[in-house]
Amino acid sequence: MAEHAEVLSFPSAATSAPEERPVLVLDFGGQYSQLIARRVREARVYSELVSHRLSAAEIQARNPLALVLSGGPASVYVEGAPEMDPDVLRLGIPTLGICYGMQLMARDLGGTVESNDVSEYGKADALLGESPLFRDLPAEQVVWMSHRDSVTAPPPGARVTASSPSTPIAAFEDRERGLYAVQFHPEVVHTPEGQEVLKNFLYEVAGAPPSWTPAAVIEEQVERIRSQVGSERIICGLSGGVDSAVAALLVHKAVGDQLTCVFVDHGLMRANEAEQVVETFGGHFHVPLVHVRAEERFLSRLAGVSDPETKRKIVGEEFIRVFEEEARKLGDVRFLVQGTLYSDVIESGGDDGVAAKIKSHHNVGGLPADMRMELVEPLRLLFKDEVRRVGEELGMPERLVWRQPFPGPGLAIRIIGDVTEERLETLREADAVLQDEVRKAGLYRELWQSFCVLPAIRSVGVQGDSRTYGYPIAIRAVTSEDAMTADWARLPYDLIETIASRIVNEIPAVNRVVLDVTSKPPATIEWE
Ligand code: XMP
Repeated sequence: MAEHAEVLSFPSAATSAPEERPVLVLDFGGQYSQLIARRVREARVYSELVSHRLSAAEIQARNPLALVLSGGPASVYVEGAPEMDPDVLRLGIPTLGICYGMQLMARDLGGTVESNDVSEYGKADALLGESPLFRDLPAEQVVWMSHRDSVTAPPPGARVTASSPSTPIAAFEDRERGLYAVQFHPEVVHTPEGQEVLKNFLYEVAGAPPSWTPAAVIEEQVERIRSQVGSERIICGLSGGVDSAVAALLVHKAVGDQLTCVFVDHGLMRANEAEQVVETFGGHFHVPLVHVRAEERFLSRLAGVSDPETKRKIVGEEFIRVFEEEARKLGDVRFLVQGTLYSDVIESGGDDGVAAKIKSHHNVGGLPADMRMELVEPLRLLFKDEVRRVGEELGMPERLVWRQPFPGPGLAIRIIGDVTEERLETLREADAVLQDEVRKAGLYRELWQSFCVLPAIRSVGVQGDSRTYGYPIAIRAVTSEDAMTADWARLPYDLIETIASRIVNEIPAVNRVVLDVTSKPPATIEWE
């Protein structure tokens, strides 16, 4: 009963828009800070990652439903360790401290934290006691630990609710004040019941409604876009990727034909991709679409260029030029859609936590800075997986929604050497074989990226009775979470065999197929 009263005593959030009552994740520089925010959202509760430097007043002004204090690499007693305004814990907002967040809570509330002789890293067997956090969960379970310091005495008034063999105080709570803390990491997959712990905190403790759904996001963004754009015209550059596609569809849903999409076809896409964009937007969704066939312009500027950075610069510049020309033709357009994602807005800044920063090279199409248009950024609050779910909800075809990342300069940086029409055609055919077989094997979505590279060298082969002097094709397939690191994918040998023999049999210019077995680091994902 007492727990119920506690839940009901928090203000109801059911009637307000999810973004008006966020769960704020205070970033203390831990490697999992962003992951915590994503996990909260997976529980259908809107969350934002914010700096640990926010004052109690600033936090209160955001009217959060709950707070989560992230982990962090520092020790709470070290000079310069990230701090938080101690008044934050007196706001009466339900708060969950994780790892460093737990230790900070303990220290600031009068408990003690001490350094262990050895750090505890990896799986641990935890014994969970009675707590709203652990409701309906097995009392014994595996949790993921990663810490050197430990809480050795909980704050006065708090109760210890979990332990593990090396961490007697693995969780504590002060229900009266709505303060909860865990030493283990509920946000990582290595804590199998971790998501349930987070859900219990959100639903049971904080009374947060699971209202952050793709449908709610769409409804909300459509409203926002309408009020921002009014009856003005708006333009959107389509890249063929999921971000610009979802952004465009949201805007179209909001303001209909006030939107014009411009698809700059630079001729460096993979087989059938340009057609797919035109078919989806022009044909299926009836979005006003300008399809600029600029292949010749791009190819003539790329002729004889083999330096990767020069290729990138050329494609970027030419893209802007073409886009500007088209925008000018459209006359008075006040607004420009940009597919900026939440992960572009936040950047974990080491110990110091988040810093608002936009990664310029990740902006859709890298549009010109001097274009005097107001930006409309309907994906600014969304993580990539949320963009995909919104895309599905909007009825976007599976191929577009789940498309693997593809670099802006396209196949130009997958031909190692000069880019020519003939090499592009060869690479496109080889890549189509690879895509086809990877999809047939059901592996497309499991791989971060899978593609072919054409190093413009020749090697000797023998086909039939004659010697050949053809191109090699390299197969590159990686698994990754975020492209910062990547592991080369262990594709089944039979699949590699099928891909290789189809490529050499179907494409006369190719007589050899090799497999890239390097991870990132030391290699990068792309070859250029
Ligand atoms: P690397 O090769 O650096 O790539 O491991 C990391 C991720 O970034 C993509 N990439 C690019 N994307 N323009 C882009 O829009 C580029 O010039 C570019 N270069 C690499 C790459 O495909 C991978 O997903």
